[in-house]
Amino acid sequence: SNRIMLGPLVAAIDQGTSSTRFLVFNAKTAELLSHHQVEIKQSFPKEGWVEEDPKEILQSVYECMDRTCEKLTQLNIDVSNIKAVGVTNQRETTLVWDKQTGEPLYNAIVWLDLRTQSTVERLINKTPGKNKNHLKDKTGLPISTYFSAVKLRWLMDNVEKVHEAVLSHRAMFGTVDSWLIWCLTGGKNGGVHCTDVTNASRTMLFNIHTMDWDPELCIYFDIPMGILPKVRSSSEIYGLMKSGPLTGVPISGCLGDQSAALVGQMCFKDGQAKNTYGTGCFLLKNVGTKPVMSDHGLLTTVAYKLGRDKPACYALEGSVAIAGAVVRWLKDNLGIIQTSTELEKLAADVGTSYGCYFVPAFSGLYAPYWEPSARGIICGLTQFTNRSHLAFAALEAVCFQTREILDAMNQDSGINLSQLQVDGGMTSNRLLMQLQADILCIPVVKPSMPETTALGAAMAAGAAEGVSVWSLNPEDLTEVTSEKFEPQINPEESELRYARWKKAVQRAMNWET
Ligand code: G3P
Repeated sequence: SNRIMLGPLVAAIDQGTSSTRFLVFNAKTAELLSHHQVEIKQSFPKEGWVEEDPKEILQSVYECMDRTCEKLTQLNIDVSNIKAVGVTNQRETTLVWDKQTGEPLYNAIVWLDLRTQSTVERLINKTPGKNKNHLKDKTGLPISTYFSAVKLRWLMDNVEKVHEAVLSHRAMFGTVDSWLIWCLTGGKNGGVHCTDVTNASRTMLFNIHTMDWDPELCIYFDIPMGILPKVRSSSEIYGLMKSGPLTGVPISGCLGDQSAALVGQMCFKDGQAKNTYGTGCFLLKNVGTKPVMSDHGLLTTVAYKLGRDKPACYALEGSVAIAGAVVRWLKDNLGIIQTSTELEKLAADVGTSYGCYFVPAFSGLYAPYWEPSARGIICGLTQFTNRSHLAFAALEAVCFQTREILDAMNQDSGINLSQLQVDGGMTSNRLLMQLQADILCIPVVKPSMPETTALGAAMAAGAAEGVSVWSLNPEDLTEVTSEKFEPQINPEESELRYARWKKAVQRAMNWET
């Protein structure tokens, strides 16, 4: 057969909250050649609890790899051209497994999960001045249900199997990246137990200045350091694939998904930012090689460290828990749409929420409020309100939440972003993109290749020492083509709607107290 000669290819596993993908890129042109996607089941065993099955997550990765490689073969592309694989993942989601059997000891507790709310309240009440930012100097993070340490604490306190495995030195903790890399590099037969600096910076056990696990933080949460993975840079060879269609290929890139999107959007310069619309919505701004602390409710996080000897770069992050998740909720819980794509049409039918405001604080409110006791509300309803208005209000909620974190970002830096680079699944919704530009009053710029998260992980993998098929020199980086949405409504109207939104947010706050 006529094999197509393409030069080196690099692949990425993108394990997100709602789905897993595997994608293959041309390392010279960054062109996406083939991919496959599988949806991930979420279970909600109790109110506020969100879990996923670690084995299903792993299986979905193998399925996506198999199917993508089949598609490449059908395109006459030789899979042996794949020189490296990068991993990017939903962050904070917490797993514990047994290193001797390879079995997970509980479901993965998803980042959105609220079961640790009382633990968090207890911890905050214990701090001097009941200060949720008590650990911020070291971690860049407020004490919140969001991060891994409290989830891990819950597992050790409430799951007998986890407790025993920790005592008998058989337990391994990890976020999704660690679980996948350990399994893919051999699991119980010599798998590599590691994570990268970006994922580590979301656990609350990691000191973002020393760039290592912090003994004091581990004492604070009473976590034995022996169960933690080894922390590595985001771009180096961690190990080789031990099974599946890419056996023998190095895994050489690892970044939390929001960091990967920052890299994939080429935001390498101080001040460059991107907003990703996935299950949640995450605006990250590169602040360079020195961490910057926020006075306006943003997180300080490790953006990337692209090689063992390369400097770490930091980011300010505005995290919104519910973005795409609100679409899934309208579909699965209310049944007002059958598919996500229907939402755009429904909302476009009316083009207004008709005064209806929807604050989807399903998991409390994240940035800039960090209020775990907030709960969702829909307000401003009249006899006239219908499901189209509700659909519109849901899209508007995503835009208002982004506006809140952009405002915080601008206030922190004293410089206003002049446009917003965006990516992620929801950006295919053109109505949402226009609405976002209208509500921010600045242009919104969307790259024509939307898979920037996977691209970032592939770039890190391809650039790793010993692989070196992808150049990260600014001169060699391909120009990205993009589409721009300009604001169309007048700023006064935009401000009026935003002010109403803020009133609605106040009503969602402190719902339980
Ligand atoms: O912090 C959670 C984030 O990494 C999840 O991303 O794309 O699955 O919403 P996503």
